[in-house]
Amino acid sequence: MRRLFVAGGAGFIGSNFIRQVLAGRSGVEVVNFDALTYAGNPDNLREIAGDGRYAFVHGNVADAAAVAEAMRGCDAVVNFAAESHVDRSIHDASDFIETNVRGAYNVLAAARDLGIGRVLHISTDEVYGPADREHPRREGDAFAPRSPYAASKAAGDMMCHAFAETHGLAVIVARPANNVGPYQYPEKAVPLFVTNALDGQPLPVYGEGLQERDRLYVDDCVRALLLLLERGEPGEAYNIQADNHRPNIDVARAILDLLDKPYALIQFVDDREGHDPCYWMDSSKVRALGWQPDLGFEAAIERTVRWYRDNRWWWEKIKSGEFRAYYERQYGRRLATARPYAG
Ligand code: NAD
Ligand code: TYD
Repeated sequence: MRRLFVAGGAGFIGSNFIRQVLAGRSGVEVVNFDALTYAGNPDNLREIAGDGRYAFVHGNVADAAAVAEAMRGCDAVVNFAAESHVDRSIHDASDFIETNVRGAYNVLAAARDLGIGRVLHISTDEVYGPADREHPRREGDAFAPRSPYAASKAAGDMMCHAFAETHGLAVIVARPANNVGPYQYPEKAVPLFVTNALDGQPLPVYGEGLQERDRLYVDDCVRALLLLLERGEPGEAYNIQADNHRPNIDVARAILDLLDKPYALIQFVDDREGHDPCYWMDSSKVRALGWQPDLGFEAAIERTVRWYRDNRWWWEKIKSGEFRAYYERQYGRRLATARPYAG
């Protein structure tokens, strides 16, 4: 791998991935192709913007010609580009179809046409639908997506398998669990809870807060992704999970404990429609390649909270922009009818 095409590298996981590639692979150049949607942010890669091995291309994966043009000359591809927030997909999923389905197709088609030797596509645990510890999903299991976001990701994931089978494209699919860490847009639960707590604002916990998610530290996820890019079997999918599952209410309390803030900031609000109770995957396939997470739940949350506490410059700008209209739409009525934390 000498010249890597990364789609969606200005978002949360993509920016952490590019940082790790440039720090750890001296001979590799990176082309970051990103539409800079509300979730894409040049600040995420501020410190490497002047690195001679890094180039940014402002483009949309829904634009097939632009994808092919920017990919020319690259020998490997990683696709992070996505609309990634479940709540937004409930409100309106059309951008999800454009980017997560049409865009995924365009990236695969360009890679095929240009004879790219290795493609890593980032899917999600949500394609399997709800699962618990007793029934972990394996890579060959059927998909049962329940949110519009998960359905669009399932379509992109299946297209990868179609391209491997039909066109012989060397595409590998990664299915990570929920990531936490620096540079995550504060619409997602953990950065939303942390930044609201830092501002003394309520933490809107859906339902009773009993739904569970893994909390995989982003650096651990990125190490797995690099491993799969370099050593994954073409045509195969790999689950990536840290087994750091906790109910959302425990996550909210852990954040408040770390910031020395009162549990009274927790507000139980109307649940997300179609809220998946839990995802659980068997990740022995990627572990057999030598990967394991470094951070457990406590360390992952502690490191994440510390970063947002120390980097207000990054999130205050976001929360005073487009985010305010989104927040009002998503939480205005919910917070007006919220139930307080009762002990
Ligand atoms: P993100 O929302 O933070 O970033 C998405 C990036 O893609 C942004 O930079 C955005 O500008 C870019 N983008 C969006 N639409 C685009 C388009 N049409 N053309 C080009 N660029 C576009 O997302 P993330 O959390 O970094 O997730 C990255 C990938 O990992 C996604 O595919 C997501 O589905 C998947 N994933 C995320 C998680 C998680 O916990 N964050 C877990 C499992 C899977
Ligand atoms: P989120 O970060 O949106 O990720 P995903 O839906 O992809 O898992 O949500 C994580 C969990 O937190 C999920 O169970 C929904 C819940 N949640 C809340 O309780 N309140 C919130 O304000 C948000 C955004 C999420």
